[in-house]
Amino acid sequence: HTIHREDYLAPAFWIDTVELTFDLDPAKTRVLNKMRVRRNTAVGTDLPLRLDGEDLNLARVLVNGQGATFKMDNGQLVLSNLPVDESGFDLEIFTTCQPEKNTSLSGLYTSQGAFFTQCEAEGFRRITYFLDRPDVMSIYSVTLRADQALYPVLLSNGNLVEEGALEDGRHYAKWHDPFKKPSYLFALVAGKLVAREQRIIARNGKEHLLQVYVRPGDLEKTEHAMQSLIASIAWDEARFGLHLDLDRFMIVATSDFNMGAMENKGLNIFNTKYVLASQTTATDVDFANVESVVGHEYFHNWTGNRITCRDWFQLSLKEGLTVFRDQEFSMDMAGSDSARAVKRIEDVRLLRTNQFAEDAGPMAHPVRPDSYQEINNFYTLTIYEKGAEVVRMMHTLVGEAGFRKGITLYFERFDGQAVTCDDFAQAIADANPDSALHKLLPQFKLWYSQAGTPHVQATGLYDEMAQTYTLRLTQSLRPTPGQPDKQAAVIPVKLGLLTRSGQALPLQLQGEATEAQFERTLVLSEAQQTFTFVNLAQAPVPSLLRGFSAPVVLHQQLDEEELEVLLEHDSDPFNRWEASQRWAQQIMLNALRDGNDAPMLPERYLAALRKVLNDPLLDAAFKDLVLTLPTEGYIAEQLDVVNPQRIHAVRQTLLSQLASALKADWQRVWELHNDTGAYTPDAISTGRRALAGKALAMLTLDAMHSGDSVWPGKALQRFKDASNMTDRFNALAALVSARHPLAGNALALFYQLFKDNALVLDKWFQLQASAPGLQGDALTKVQQLMQHPDFTLKNPNRARSLIFGFTNANPAGFHRADGAGYQFWADQVIALDAINAQTAARLARAMDAWRKLDAPFQAQAQTALQRVAAHGKLSKDVREIIEKSLA
Ligand code: ARG
Ligand code: ZN
Repeated sequence: HTIHREDYLAPAFWIDTVELTFDLDPAKTRVLNKMRVRRNTAVGTDLPLRLDGEDLNLARVLVNGQGATFKMDNGQLVLSNLPVDESGFDLEIFTTCQPEKNTSLSGLYTSQGAFFTQCEAEGFRRITYFLDRPDVMSIYSVTLRADQALYPVLLSNGNLVEEGALEDGRHYAKWHDPFKKPSYLFALVAGKLVAREQRIIARNGKEHLLQVYVRPGDLEKTEHAMQSLIASIAWDEARFGLHLDLDRFMIVATSDFNMGAMENKGLNIFNTKYVLASQTTATDVDFANVESVVGHEYFHNWTGNRITCRDWFQLSLKEGLTVFRDQEFSMDMAGSDSARAVKRIEDVRLLRTNQFAEDAGPMAHPVRPDSYQEINNFYTLTIYEKGAEVVRMMHTLVGEAGFRKGITLYFERFDGQAVTCDDFAQAIADANPDSALHKLLPQFKLWYSQAGTPHVQATGLYDEMAQTYTLRLTQSLRPTPGQPDKQAAVIPVKLGLLTRSGQALPLQLQGEATEAQFERTLVLSEAQQTFTFVNLAQAPVPSLLRGFSAPVVLHQQLDEEELEVLLEHDSDPFNRWEASQRWAQQIMLNALRDGNDAPMLPERYLAALRKVLNDPLLDAAFKDLVLTLPTEGYIAEQLDVVNPQRIHAVRQTLLSQLASALKADWQRVWELHNDTGAYTPDAISTGRRALAGKALAMLTLDAMHSGDSVWPGKALQRFKDASNMTDRFNALAALVSARHPLAGNALALFYQLFKDNALVLDKWFQLQASAPGLQGDALTKVQQLMQHPDFTLKNPNRARSLIFGFTNANPAGFHRADGAGYQFWADQVIALDAINAQTAARLARAMDAWRKLDAPFQAQAQTALQRVAAHGKLSKDVREIIEKSLA
């Protein structure tokens, strides 16, 4: 059953207020739902009220206090003969549900003896019958009743208005949320939890209570989350003038959660992975993720909650914008320009490896999709990351100040409403009437409607006589499922021109009166356009798409000399890094094309890397990124026919060469960076640890070939002595990825040390799943680990670390000629689907790129997909993915 964006109809009824009373019991929770309902006469006066419900036991329905007749249709509760006018009526519904049986983690469920909810996108209907759609916004009052000893903490959205004792050891709490909200933002929590608390005075003088709730024992791991929340609040005030609008803001962590976190009004619920962090248990990456996700959910309070989505096709309205905001927040927190660039590179890497792959596969969809079967399948990299790039392009086209004006206008127009992506783009454009965005708005909005990644071909021609440089840009976009014909997009191309010795050249366009600049943004809006720069005494080296100014694939012929100039001198750090990646990519692709699995790294490339590694002016984090070869997945992206084993072989060969050719440099790097002093997760020390970790991994890898035992010994020593998880884990990973004989013992020791910490144990599973098998093959290892007493399919974090760690992060282990990896995948999709459809559907997507696979992989993959398709009881989540894959 497919839902289409074009079929949108406003709701036939509004629900103005909701009073919910919960009697919480894991086996059978009773939910009394009293609503004030009013007909939306604009839509019609004779339409029945159709309420969504799922997995509920219905006990009673009263209209204005009287028993009412209703029927059930397709799971919906249908009430006819309701008042024809807007006078409104009381509707009371009494249902029960079974939270402890709810393994889907959608709706109301229990986790480690506590109650949690997850209502986005359509989980509220698993709690009570409702108009479970984002354009129905209501005022909620919630009473929670539960056993006081088992559930001392009772939380819901908004403000606590009353609490007290009841008979039989029970107690209650009553919450009121002063803001209208859609049902997907409802939340409740009940359990034995403790909170870190902080009172803050905001810029506008208002006092707020901030709380981070966790299980007893985890409290000392919440400081970073609290600091991140305080920083988020200050940042949104300073950058956008947006203030916290509630007296109390709560974050609650649970270890059973399908996604990262959820922005429920005033009561964010988080995966523990994005709350808990201490130096001995969390890596630098974990610390950065906590900061970014805490920011993301907090920023949703305005972009998502105050202004929400009219329908789920508009999901990127809140997600793309909020990801853009959290990216900017992380960059501002990072401090230096160089640290900002590192964050930008990381974001672009994610986009290009995973979102571009999505855009090129069977699930390709526009940032604003036209149809879906299961909305939970559309919480994708396209909605989030590409959506953020679309917002970023607007930001580029109107400038920082113009963007802020646009956001202000957006809130002036739409605060308290449920709106569309069109509304957002219009507000940003209207606030900047002289901008290219305003001029090109209808065409710009193709970014919302067209799926697929545009390709831009750049060719430059230098005319020595005329002293001009003509840049020709050509764009194209391949068909995607359901969209055979594509139109030219609006593509901002930020660029600079360099001399061969690396100086920036002034950019003066032919026939232009304005003063020359050293950097500018061209706007490509036709299929092909030429731009002629004048007064150039020598052929320039072009630095195009600086900062990755548009989410496109840029094709550009650059020779070694030009790459070297860019890598050494570009003033844009993103493009410096990009030059290193293009260079490595060319080497890898040439080898694959020539059937050469043992290519040699050219001396010139090695020399350029050596220079970077030893440059005292560059940050360690940046060096680490330059010295990282493109991933196997990214290389696969560049190819029409993919043989994962060959890609792996080529990359491994080059990695070994990088290790041995730069051995002396790696040793020096290790000596200079391995002592990072007292632990702080700031950008500089994070970069130093990352680079030291890379050096150790390289030296350990090299030792496997040279037979030297010094560096593996040092790795083991570092693993044992490390005072923080980053250093410890990097050392362990160095031994494991090199398949060093010491790795087995180190893994066993790691387990002993951390067996009681679920998040660290996830790392232990993930590392083994994503590494080549230590003895024997990776699949056998994974199958053994499935039998480990600490493994369970029921916990999404655990399932993801082991199973996704294998299917998504271990291409050489997964893509086997005998198809055993794919058969394992099929088994796990089917098993997981019976427990948690959302997570199973994510796993199902591991086969997205199967049509690009070379023989014999492709046929094996198809067999596995068909086996899943033939399974009798698939959720609609998994069915949609498999159907689209096989279509
Ligand atoms: N809105 C949440 C966030 O962006 C994600 C919730 C996703 N939930 C889901 N069932 N797909 O942080
Ligand atoms: Zn979000």
